[in-house]
Amino acid sequence: MEKLVIHGGRPLHGEVKISGAKNAALPLMAATLLTPGKHRLRNVPNLRDTRTFIRLLEYLGVKSERVGDTLSLDTTNLSSAEAPYDLVKTMRASVLVLGPLVARLGQARVSLPGGCAIGARPIDFHIMGLERLGATCHLEGGYVDLKCERALRGEVIYFDIPTVTGTENLLMAASLAEGTTVLKNAAKEPEIGNLVDMLTGMGAKIEGRGTDSLIIHGVKHLQPADCEVIPDRIEAGTYLLAIVATGGSGSVSHCRPDHLPSLLEKLRLAGVNVTETRDTITVGWNETGEGGKQLKGVNIKTMPYPGYPTDLQAQFMALMTQCSGSCVVNETIFENRFMHVAELHRMGANIKIDGHSARVEGLGMGGLKGAPVMATDLRASSSLVIAGLSASGRTDISRIYHLERGYENLVDKLTKLGAKVWKEDEQ
Ligand code: EPZ
Repeated sequence: MEKLVIHGGRPLHGEVKISGAKNAALPLMAATLLTPGKHRLRNVPNLRDTRTFIRLLEYLGVKSERVGDTLSLDTTNLSSAEAPYDLVKTMRASVLVLGPLVARLGQARVSLPGGCAIGARPIDFHIMGLERLGATCHLEGGYVDLKCERALRGEVIYFDIPTVTGTENLLMAASLAEGTTVLKNAAKEPEIGNLVDMLTGMGAKIEGRGTDSLIIHGVKHLQPADCEVIPDRIEAGTYLLAIVATGGSGSVSHCRPDHLPSLLEKLRLAGVNVTETRDTITVGWNETGEGGKQLKGVNIKTMPYPGYPTDLQAQFMALMTQCSGSCVVNETIFENRFMHVAELHRMGANIKIDGHSARVEGLGMGGLKGAPVMATDLRASSSLVIAGLSASGRTDISRIYHLERGYENLVDKLTKLGAKVWKEDEQ
């Protein structure tokens, strides 16, 4: 296994180009299963998770070809309706094939993803919704077996919690159902809008884009897709937080500032100078005059979009370890998303967890000290990268395969910003 070595304490400067969104590319790739034909997806990031999803699609009979960031998928002949455990256990987003397979083939057999480091992450809302549309569900041997002898039928479906992939699965299935489906308390993340745009381009009839009430009028057939993956708002937010945490100034380009309303507001409240154009965000410092840069402590509470994103919680906490005051981080989406705290403690951070909240006592800019730490999940590991970049001395982050799931060309992009970072074998 490899580790990431960082010599921290160097302010980051410059511009980094943001890649396509992992959490948009995965549902778009799943949606190609809805109809036979040759599909083209542009701006697809080359990540461990997108490569795993391509392997899953090929297992189902899809032919794929990648040229640069354009992915061509030929879904003419599907040879299976099963997503096997050895693929699903490495990437829970595999459950996104449930909806399209049931809609197109009348059946789907997907391994239950099992829990992950950040929580149990059940898929009961996905199954409830597909059963409402007429599928029958049978759980056995760790697999969920869905069958539907006739076409799916439109229904009103209410989500207790606005589930992102649950909304995506039901959007895809309802596109080919007979009649009208209404998804109530649907998720509103930008990745859902990207999927609505792709489905609409394929001939689906969907109203309510961007709202928590989506109305889908089923159609008999869809056309192959040709669409673009939106920029990755979580990658963009991660780099902005890294630049600020090192006391640097710089920009993220090819991004969507309007997809990060809560983070930009929190950075401004912390005293960071944030400016935006249509596709670029720049962060810097209002010279405080009192010598040196100071960050105010700012509280965050993770919420469904457009609230503060849970996928940027760990990264914001890494920044706040250096504030000149204190703050409270409240995680409301997942039950175990503070795995980064114990690792940040190893770097000198002063954080106390109390249930779903963590109180951070800031150390001031440059207060962390480098140390060997361990990545536990994708976003916790990016929090440790931010901490290592800002800390004095050397930080070694082990198990960086977590990072490679969601950050394309991480070492190149950080090096371009002036970081001293490289990969090494863990031995
Ligand atoms: C998506 O996961 C993202 N993954 C996650 O990003 C993200 O953290 C999450 O949404 C929340 O924004 C992808 O899009 C591939 P949910 P998802 O269903 O859809 C509960 C990353 O780092 N729930 O919106 O699995 C669930 O336990 C990943 O890129 C049920 O109880 O999340 C959670 O508490 C991590 N039953 C809440 O709802 C269900 O059937 C929100 O989960 C479904 C969800």
